[in-house]
Amino acid sequence: MNISAELLTLLRGTSKLAALTGAGVSQESGLRTFRDAQTGLWAQYRPEDLASPEAFRRDPKLVWDWYAWRREAVKAVRPNPGHYALVEMERKVPSFTLITQNVDGLHRMAGSQRLLELHGNIQRVRCAECYTFTEIWGDDSESVPACSQCGGLLRPDVVWFGESLPRDQLEAAVEAARSCEVFLSIGTSGVVQPAASLAFAAHNRGARVVEINAEPTPLTSKANYVLHGKSGEILPHLVEAVWGHS
Ligand code: OAD
Repeated sequence: MNISAELLTLLRGTSKLAALTGAGVSQESGLRTFRDAQTGLWAQYRPEDLASPEAFRRDPKLVWDWYAWRREAVKAVRPNPGHYALVEMERKVPSFTLITQNVDGLHRMAGSQRLLELHGNIQRVRCAECYTFTEIWGDDSESVPACSQCGGLLRPDVVWFGESLPRDQLEAAVEAARSCEVFLSIGTSGVVQPAASLAFAAHNRGARVVEINAEPTPLTSKANYVLHGKSGEILPHLVEAVWGHS
């Protein structure tokens, strides 16, 4: 794998780094990315049409079942070498912030600690009305389970299209992007706001931007360095080349 000496030197000298990840980072764990075509039962739906308050109002059971299916898929997979390389990076860089759009919890499972989950977490379930979190619910095949406090419908604690991101997580992510020396954008198509603007905010403040992706994105032409390929291969290689074994 060809990583320029200039990039290795830059990373070696970096004390403040922010990294943004998207679904591509979990692809090698066996999870489908958002904009991959779906298969089977869900092939007829676009994720964008299921991940919204309108969809939940229109057909709560359909949306609940789609998330239940994804929750099971997440439970069956493990972090991959890309997730672990980011844990290693956190240990090596004095100030490191990992910002993820993923709701699968794999970064935390791998051991990342300085982590901001911008779009929530699929394993958390809360009431759509009174916001009470719950870990236990009865699941019949007919209807969406109800909140034990108020009787409202339960939903996953994830951000849907048209909803606001958790304010504390977003503010911390913006601050990390604006103040870092190097910003890594990894496995994200960069089309969903406000996460997509973080790399540009970093760039505008003078940070060097590095993109790691299997495909070109709207960020590619602006990035200072582009590493084209799979993050589960590139990240371990990069960490090894820059910081060596721990
Ligand atoms: P996408 O599915 O839009 O993009 C995945 C990106 O990962 C693409 O650019 C792929 O080229 C790249 N990719 C795929 N496999 C890869 C691999 N092994 N290594 C590196 N790159 C790879 O997913 P996101 O950008 O995460 O939001 O989508 C952003 C948001 O849109 C999601 O968080 C979700 C969705 O709607 C909400 O639900 C609010």
